[in-house]
Amino acid sequence: MGLLKAEALCKSYISGRRRIPVLRNLHLEVRSGEVVCIIGPSGAGKSTLLRLLAGLDRPDEGWVTLNGRPVQSGTPELAVMFQNPLLLPWLNVRDNVKFGLRFLPGCNAAIAQERVAMALRQVGLLALADRPVTVLSGGEAQRVALARALVRQPRFLLLDEPFSNLDVPTRQELNQLIRRLALTEGVGVVLVTHDLEEALHLGDRLLLLSPQTGNFIREYHPRDCVHSLARHRLQEELTAALWALRAREPMSSSQNP
Ligand SMILES: Nc1ncnc2c1ncn2[C@@H]1O[C@H](COP(=O)(O)OP(=O)(O)OP(=O)(O)O)[C@@H](O)[C@H]1O
Ligand SMILES: [Mg+2]
Repeated sequence: MGLLKAEALCKSYISGRRRIPVLRNLHLEVRSGEVVCIIGPSGAGKSTLLRLLAGLDRPDEGWVTLNGRPVQSGTPELAVMFQNPLLLPWLNVRDNVKFGLRFLPGCNAAIAQERVAMALRQVGLLALADRPVTVLSGGEAQRVALARALVRQPRFLLLDEPFSNLDVPTRQELNQLIRRLALTEGVGVVLVTHDLEEALHLGDRLLLLSPQTGNFIREYHPRDCVHSLARHRLQEELTAALWALRAREPMSSSQNP
């Protein structure tokens, strides 16, 4: 069993002379095989949290551990997919995916080749392996970024809105892949998504991040909703909770339903 744990995380940014507090005293535990969905309004700090969990940024206070050891950038058991694909434009699809294996111990050329092919197959992009990434569609680029995370065969997978540019069937296929990785291979998944249906379908737990408090204010358990009516009610409850948390600067045409 593995455990990814964040304790008492605080993170703020400096903008000009102002200090912008984002996360305050945030706690999170994710176990092997568990899918935890993070939901919250835009600007709440979801991507900030993922960067801290991946060890790519340091918290002002608090700490992140994986099986009791501090997480650092490049920790082999972790892989992260960012909100923006951040592909290397001078490399083709295959080499961008292979880039995910850098610094990974025990990965010789033959293993790397096998793993890259498998990751590309998992996201349905094997046929585009030689294509330059500069010509990819938004959804294809997103899938290359997902493959670059999967190729590490991580024990914990951190995904920041991974499917936002995809058509429904592709999205559903990749949802199934994530579920399978968690269920059959025991991968722990932290998924940031704005899609409540996706969160309800994939998540064992849903955590609502509040921009006001900078931490999780509610936890939901979609698997307890056996009947579709209960799921529908939960989705409505989540929508209402997101409206309530919205930044106090509504767009001129918006109206609380
Ligand atoms: N490097 C930075 N410097 C200053 N402010 C930052 C920086 N990175 C993020 N922020 C601010 O911190 C807040 C949280 O940003 P973050 O990207 O974590 O939000 P988010 O919940 O992922 O939003 P979205 O759903 O829109 O992706 C935002 O107000 C953002 O403007
Ligand atoms: Mg974000």
